[in-house]
Amino acid sequence: MKIDLAERVKRLPPYVFAEMEKLINEKKRQGLDLISLSIGDPDLPPPSFIIDSLKEEVANLKNHNYSFSQGEPDFRQAVADWYKKRFRVDLSQEEVVALIGSKEGLANVARAFVNAGDRVLVPDPSYPVYSNGSTILNDGVPVPLPLLQENDFKPDLEAVNPEKVKMMFLNYPNNPTSATVDKKFLKCAVEFAQENNVILCYDNAYSEITFDGYKAPSILEIDGAMDVAVEFHSCSKTFNMTGDRIAFAVGNKQLINGLTKVKSQIDSGPPVYIQKVAAKALESYKSDEPPDFLKKNNQVYGERRDLLVDRLCQMGFLCEKPKATFYVWLNCKGDSMEFATKLISVGVAVTPGAGFGAYGEKYVRLAVTQPIERIAEACKRMSALFGCADASV
Ligand SMILES: Cc1ncc(COP(=O)(O)O)c(C=O)c1O
Repeated sequence: MKIDLAERVKRLPPYVFAEMEKLINEKKRQGLDLISLSIGDPDLPPPSFIIDSLKEEVANLKNHNYSFSQGEPDFRQAVADWYKKRFRVDLSQEEVVALIGSKEGLANVARAFVNAGDRVLVPDPSYPVYSNGSTILNDGVPVPLPLLQENDFKPDLEAVNPEKVKMMFLNYPNNPTSATVDKKFLKCAVEFAQENNVILCYDNAYSEITFDGYKAPSILEIDGAMDVAVEFHSCSKTFNMTGDRIAFAVGNKQLINGLTKVKSQIDSGPPVYIQKVAAKALESYKSDEPPDFLKKNNQVYGERRDLLVDRLCQMGFLCEKPKATFYVWLNCKGDSMEFATKLISVGVAVTPGAGFGAYGEKYVRLAVTQPIERIAEACKRMSALFGCADASV
């Protein structure tokens, strides 16, 4: 039998990271001590109250049946309460859907609303799911929204041709650039969506990983956003629960209903016990201020970020301290694959920007998801490679 991939699968771009993975595995096989600054997965554990709650909820035999496609009512209420505390946004349970990780929701949302040939605005560089898993795999046409350093990595919406555009993805705090925005920019984005009848999918996965007093807004804080927007959030980065696969989408009821309709044909929601644990995690917020464990988490990331950025500057790179996310987006002044390959030769893995889109080509992403001593060691190796004196010695 001749087995042929569907055309939409063939349209997926080549996987830039595959080459890197091959190189990394080869070096590991050779016994090289590799420091990975390439992974967007926290090395810090979930707080102990989450582990305790998980043990308790798993042990409850009532928590092993199917959930609902839209999620458990208690979980959706906890999400609505969290929105009220954290963003002062009023939501009903009907305006919330539980997700098996926000990646799942981001991938399924286009299936609910995008028709074959519809154009979808996708930031470039960006998390690849918007363009690939969501747009291409649902027969939409991704249209890059360049995120340029000179525009603080914000798209120029005035330059967009809105013809046949059905959907737009935006993500701040941003992966991979770590850029942040204020409400003024979000207001422009909502106005663009309203004027052009475009569904606005706002990915706020990193809203709680912030530094130096910066507080990330929700798109739903903007007047009129409830008419056009759906926002995606996740417990992955906030509570160090990436493997537990629990997240949520909130916003316009018709958009939530459409996403739920698609999901009801595909999955049966996240496990009940995980939703109960996630509800407790969200309830740890007593106000719009993050709970203590999250403040500590962010302090750890902040110290690592300071060390990494200071050392990169000493090596002669132009690099600023980001106000959010655990990423540093470094202008490597050349081909990102070449740069990343060079670093692997000294046992440091970073992510080549080309994997996030054409506009990521001259950048690499470094994640501070390693202990500070390992980051210091990685900097030492980079300094030696670039022929700089290492300030730490
Ligand atoms: C911008 C962004 N959105 C969404 C996700 C997906 O997170 P999850 O599916 O774990 O909720 C990630 C993961 O790295 C991400 O970087």
